[in-house]
Amino acid sequence: MKERILEIQDLTKHFRLRRTSLLRRPGSIKALNGISFSISRGESFGIVGESGCGKSTAGYSIVGLLKPTAGKVLFKGEEVNSMDANSLREFRKKVQLVFQDTSGSLNPRGTVEWILSEPLRAMGMAKKQIRNLVVDSLELVGLDKDLLGRFPHELSGGQKQRIGILNALILDPEVIIADEPVSSLDVSIQAQILNLMNELQDRLSLTYLFISHDLNVVHYFCNRIAVMYLGEIVELSESEELYRSPLHPYTQSLLSAIPGGSYRKTEKIILEGDAPSPMNPPSGCFFHPRCFKRMEICSRVKPRIIEVSKDHFVSCHLY
Ligand SMILES: Nc1ncnc2c1ncn2[C@@H]1O[C@H](COP(=O)(O)OP(=O)(O)O)[C@@H](O)[C@H]1O
Ligand code: SF4
Ligand SMILES: [Mg+2]
Repeated sequence: MKERILEIQDLTKHFRLRRTSLLRRPGSIKALNGISFSISRGESFGIVGESGCGKSTAGYSIVGLLKPTAGKVLFKGEEVNSMDANSLREFRKKVQLVFQDTSGSLNPRGTVEWILSEPLRAMGMAKKQIRNLVVDSLELVGLDKDLLGRFPHELSGGQKQRIGILNALILDPEVIIADEPVSSLDVSIQAQILNLMNELQDRLSLTYLFISHDLNVVHYFCNRIAVMYLGEIVELSESEELYRSPLHPYTQSLLSAIPGGSYRKTEKIILEGDAPSPMNPPSGCFFHPRCFKRMEICSRVKPRIIEVSKDHFVSCHLY
């Protein structure tokens, strides 16, 4: 069996809201409600779900940009929370995040060279060595040396995302967590960036955690997929299997909405209403107010996630 490079156990993140009155207890946003999965070395693992379901919160909590409320993250079998300074430094180097909106993550006042040098400077690498490494690395993401003196606002969307990816690669990571790396790009550029990420994975033996709201993109890119709804994983399966025979009504509705998609046994399934607020999630199955297959039990009892067939997990009372 391949090495489990990243294990996520019951990861939970609730954002506490400010108290608005002395009499009322402050509420919280239950962004992430105990998700668990593990990723093997060399895999591309996808997380998919509608906007607001907690995907970015999951990514940020895994790398430590957010402090989880509960749960564990293990890197190569070692729990991140109890790592000593050396292991933690290694974890921070080896697990890198690519942001959705590179314009927000690239320092607008730094040139491309300055931006790419920053993590290497922080490591105490010598100036000349940094310069050489940065110049050489541009080729990896298909960019020209001429860009080194430019500022982020002088770059196209595609160029910025390539720099964002290179910025994550510069410390020679093993795991890349990519949070919607193509959603802010024109459709024509999206395929180029996805192809680049595929190439880089082979070339640099990377493991990906790929976050997207677009099932088509994760299906193309990932070998396993977790479907999230309101901060929970409702279905997890190998990618082809999920695409061919989705079990959870929510996954079925997502797939039925893909024009020309393979899951067109039914008419497009239109969900009732919008996703409920994570401040006040529904009772029982979180999906019950919108589910076209709901039963009496669904509003009362929360389903547990179970393995329905080999490596295919679902959380729904139908199974
Ligand atoms: N820093 C924060 N403070 C309070 N609420 C937040 C914060 N970040 C995210 N949220 C809320 O948590 C939920 C999940 O957000 P997010 O993880 O960004 O979802 P996604 O990436 O799937 O669109 C949303 O309801 C969002 O408003
Ligand atoms: S548990 Fe009930 S409400 Fe939830 S997805 Fe299954 S059938 Fe629908
Ligand atoms: Mg997000």
